[in-house]
Amino acid sequence: MLLTDLILIYLDNNSTTQIDPRVVSHLASLLGNRFANPASQHSLGRSARGVLENAREQLLVLCKAKTVGMQSDRAVFTSGGTESNNLALCGLIANRPGMLVVSSIEHPSVLAMAQKLQQKGREVRYLPCRADGQVDLEPLAHWIDQDQKIALVSLMLANNETGVVQPVDQLVRLCKPAGILVHTDAVQAVGKVPVDFQALEVDALTLTGHKIHGLVGVGGLLLKHSVPLEPIFFGGFQQQSLRPGTESPALASSLVFACELAIQQLPERYERMLACRDRIESELVRRIAGAIVVGRDSPRLPHTTSISFPGLDRQILQMALDKEGIACGTGSACASGSSQPSHVLQAMGLPKEVVQGAIRLSLSWENSLEEVDHACEQIIRVIERLSH
Ligand SMILES: Cc1ncc(COP(=O)(O)O)c(C=O)c1O
Repeated sequence: MLLTDLILIYLDNNSTTQIDPRVVSHLASLLGNRFANPASQHSLGRSARGVLENAREQLLVLCKAKTVGMQSDRAVFTSGGTESNNLALCGLIANRPGMLVVSSIEHPSVLAMAQKLQQKGREVRYLPCRADGQVDLEPLAHWIDQDQKIALVSLMLANNETGVVQPVDQLVRLCKPAGILVHTDAVQAVGKVPVDFQALEVDALTLTGHKIHGLVGVGGLLLKHSVPLEPIFFGGFQQQSLRPGTESPALASSLVFACELAIQQLPERYERMLACRDRIESELVRRIAGAIVVGRDSPRLPHTTSISFPGLDRQILQMALDKEGIACGTGSACASGSSQPSHVLQAMGLPKEVVQGAIRLSLSWENSLEEVDHACEQIIRVIERLSH
């Protein structure tokens, strides 16, 4: 029996989502075709390039980037969110003096890269997070007022643990007049809420396929037309040398296909996930004394809830739920397997027992109200058992 046969209800979609069978068919049709390297000059190569460049153009269109005129925006295909975040931080800051500012609730792929840059001599500052889950931009406004030199700020569009939407619009209003570049990690937002690259006015935006029922291993970095970026890989001319290495038209096209499905069906999916999330939260808060929804009063993504049962241990709870066939998370998947408490909830200044007792339930449009009702009953039963 496969391990996945044991999982009855999957509520860990912020870690990864099930691949949509339509994406699999799309990929199979491309892989089944005659193949060629898109850099080859023969007709097969040119045809592969056509698929790749069409995917690039489509990705820009879907994310409402600028695709016409001399000053078109650009899309770089990468291996996923981690690489896109690494490339954005390293590549945007490379030839610019000034400090790097990141929020304290970023994904580890931003925080660890910021730390690396710091070790190499770059000054790095961290923006604090308020108890409501939103990053506090006050210190940044103060540094800008003081004319401190800042090269780049990276702030995620929405947090992967709490779902709290971050004030990227306010950030841009602060940064643009001061000539500061802005990067946003939109991995959890794309396909879940409308994302408009031009309206956001950020310089770079990260996305990935496997959070929207696409494949693991392919993502993208959108770049504003004129923003200079230094590569982090070397040894080829592909993707204008910004991300050298043989390109995969099939992977790129599968990413765009998954994006297209998610974005086209966004309004229905949004309502469905929101209804499920609200049902979970109201049931658990009503029936479990002391249960707290983290960041409940802030603007949030429709599919993510971080819910704490103070006095319980999140890892014990997660394992007990797993035995009942319910898959949930305790924070960022990249940090799971470690017993480290969530850096996000800690940055929010939440009491230790709230941090210790928090699990993350993340939905997809495939979840139903019946499923979440069943999950709530199991969660309540498990918590009652663990509390005694
Ligand atoms: C907010 C955020 N950024 C980046 C990543 C990394 O993306 P990938 O798994 O495609 O490397 C994740 C994955 O959990 C994420 O949630």
